[in-house]
Amino acid sequence: MLKNDRLDSWDRENFFHPSTHLAQHARGESPSRIVTGGDGVFIEDRDGTRLLDAFAGLYCVNVGYGRTEIAEAIAAQAKELAYYHAYVGHGTEASITLAKMVMDRAPAHMSKVYFGLGGSDANETNIKLVWYYNNILGRPEKKKIISRWRGYHGSGLMTGSLTGLELFHKKFDLPLDNVLHTLAPDYFRREDLSMSEADFVAHCAAELEAMIDREGPDTIAAFIGEPVLGTGGIVPPPAGYWEAIQKVLKKHDILLIADEVVSGFGRLGSMFGSDHYGLEPDFITIAKGLTSAYAPLSGSIVSDRVWKVLEDGTDEFGPIGHGWTYSAHPIGAAAGVANLELIDHLGLVQNAKSAGAYLKTALENELGGHGNVGDIRGDGMLCAVEFVEDRDKRTFFDPARKIGAQVSAALLKEGVIGRAMPQGDILGFAPPLCISEAEIDQVVAATGKAVRSVL
Ligand SMILES: Cc1ncc(COP(=O)(O)O)c(C=O)c1O
Repeated sequence: MLKNDRLDSWDRENFFHPSTHLAQHARGESPSRIVTGGDGVFIEDRDGTRLLDAFAGLYCVNVGYGRTEIAEAIAAQAKELAYYHAYVGHGTEASITLAKMVMDRAPAHMSKVYFGLGGSDANETNIKLVWYYNNILGRPEKKKIISRWRGYHGSGLMTGSLTGLELFHKKFDLPLDNVLHTLAPDYFRREDLSMSEADFVAHCAAELEAMIDREGPDTIAAFIGEPVLGTGGIVPPPAGYWEAIQKVLKKHDILLIADEVVSGFGRLGSMFGSDHYGLEPDFITIAKGLTSAYAPLSGSIVSDRVWKVLEDGTDEFGPIGHGWTYSAHPIGAAAGVANLELIDHLGLVQNAKSAGAYLKTALENELGGHGNVGDIRGDGMLCAVEFVEDRDKRTFFDPARKIGAQVSAALLKEGVIGRAMPQGDILGFAPPLCISEAEIDQVVAATGKAVRSVL
């Protein structure tokens, strides 16, 4: 294929990129890449550079790149029926089959799945449904949503508000009213270093309870959290955290939204993070791993108890006034069906567990002794290395030094993509679930070199 030698300038002149330093990009000062292909855990750009993508795009290409089974399912669906809507009871073979496959995999107390397009809109749906639920139950005051600092739930108006990262609020007039943030369950970053993990969990639960008391339990509708903090730093919860939090929520009749956009469909080595950590959510948000990003599709899975109230609501007030043109898009649904079949067929949930454990141990062996490595953590196929100025005193680097970004840039030079997480000097890994041990060895050796070159 003839290469278009003006793509670089067209890009700078026309393309408004998400999460990008707009001015630097337009001036051609910041790194950019035009990606042309992918195969397994590798991507390739138009200059012929081949990179091992140890972040699976944005932790979404769970089955790896270049899976023809999914591409063929998409093509077949597009030829047969590219689109029909799902309003007023319409469906397609693909969307109905996928709903069945999702519910067969979801925790037993969940009832139905509503399909959207991305994680952000699925969380917007969840919040609307929480408000609808409390209105139907005659509790119009019970509307506030509690999220956590360092949580990530999207970048819409409400979901950007729920996200507990400074960058997503700054200059956007967010968070909106009705959103509160409580402590991040980040034991490594605890303020009081003398706290044990159990003390810290009790402290998180006590802070939550104090917030609920302060605001009034009758005003708090729901709590939203990722089973493992993702974009906020890839932080598995301290032992007993979810048990302690759910106890508080139950006591005050507060709904739980488990945002499983990253953890759903195998990333933690279990089908859902809710099963993995014993969560009993009222809503589960799914996206990324649902189609491995071969087509945009998300979902809001609602529990039996929520579904019952939604049904009562439509009996009383008529059809639910919520829907997108592309809800349950057949092409996304066809991708989802082929993707979930492939995850089972290749045993990827199990591989996430075993190869993920291998990755974490290998990183510990490579970097555990380094004086600037404060923490190596992870669960399943999610892992992070956090850098500190002084390990014994756990002092952090001045953020202006951008140590995390420097390490990820050095890693790129070694041919591996790891993500500098947006808040803190944290290098994240979330490879495709199909990664092999030999490929992990490559990631870890490159990481060791990159870290030693910067620090
Ligand atoms: C946990 C979580 N929730 C929601 C989202 C938002 O999904 P999307 O970017 O598809 O809107 C993300 C995206 O990274 C996520 O990690």
